Amino acid sequence: MNTIPVRQQRTLNINVLRHNPHDPESTPRMQAFEVEEADAMTLFVALNLIREEQDPSLQFDFVCRAGICGSCGMIINGRPGLACRTLTRDLPDTITLAPLPGFELIADLSVNTGKWMRGMAERLETWVHAEGLEQLDLDVMEAPMEPALAQQLYELERCIECGCCIAACGTAQMREDFAGAVGLNQITRFRLDPRDQRSDADFYQLVGDDSGVFGCMTLLGCEDMCPKDLPLATQIAFLRRRMVAT
Ligand code: SF4
Ligand code: SF4
Ligand code: FES
Repeated sequence: MNTIPVRQQRTLNINVLRHNPHDPESTPRMQAFEVEEADAMTLFVALNLIREEQDPSLQFDFVCRAGICGSCGMIINGRPGLACRTLTRDLPDTITLAPLPGFELIADLSVNTGKWMRGMAERLETWVHAEGLEQLDLDVMEAPMEPALAQQLYELERCIECGCCIAACGTAQMREDFAGAVGLNQITRFRLDPRDQRSDADFYQLVGDDSGVFGCMTLLGCEDMCPKDLPLATQIAFLRRRMVAT
């Protein structure tokens, strides 16, 4: 009879990069914590235990705990990921955590992805551009959309704006104005939307340079690190082909 091996309970050594740029006394430093691992423990749970039992000043973000809100992105042993979707059993005994690079640091593991995403959305105008929307009659039946197209839009809308693709992207680390995979994904989404009346020439104005599709080095860190497994490489390649043809 096969027996299921009993997993030994581990003591995790969690090293966190601490820094509060708003505190003049603060300098970046690593702080080590020990946490007893529990069954099915996520990194989010481990961080909460640290905050509750060892250091209430530790800052990190979360809202949903279910991989939906995109708040808990951080660098986990050198790779961007979501703390709430990362099981400690998939990590070694020693875990090193740092804030996502490329975003304004709030403190410790908390970064201002919202500010970055808002700036990107305003720059790329990531909303439906259509004439006459202000006179929309809400009593009129909605225009149907082909299910296959609706599914395609839905697929691209699964982005949770977590910032992992920006943290993994060499271009985004070098250029503050780079749209990143998250921005290029949004442009692809609105380009596909039949309600958006912008032409390829209009989209070219937004992403037809080095801050857009032509700044991408196609090394695909974004797709490898996207926790929602979005087909970012395919979208960027498609958009680049369209922009070249414009
Ligand atoms: S594309 Fe993926 S990695 Fe980038 S922000 Fe969206 S969900 Fe996160
Ligand atoms: S493929 Fe392009 S967008 Fe993705 S990580 Fe590389 S440079 Fe950045
Ligand atoms: S807490 Fe919402 S994605 Fe992790």
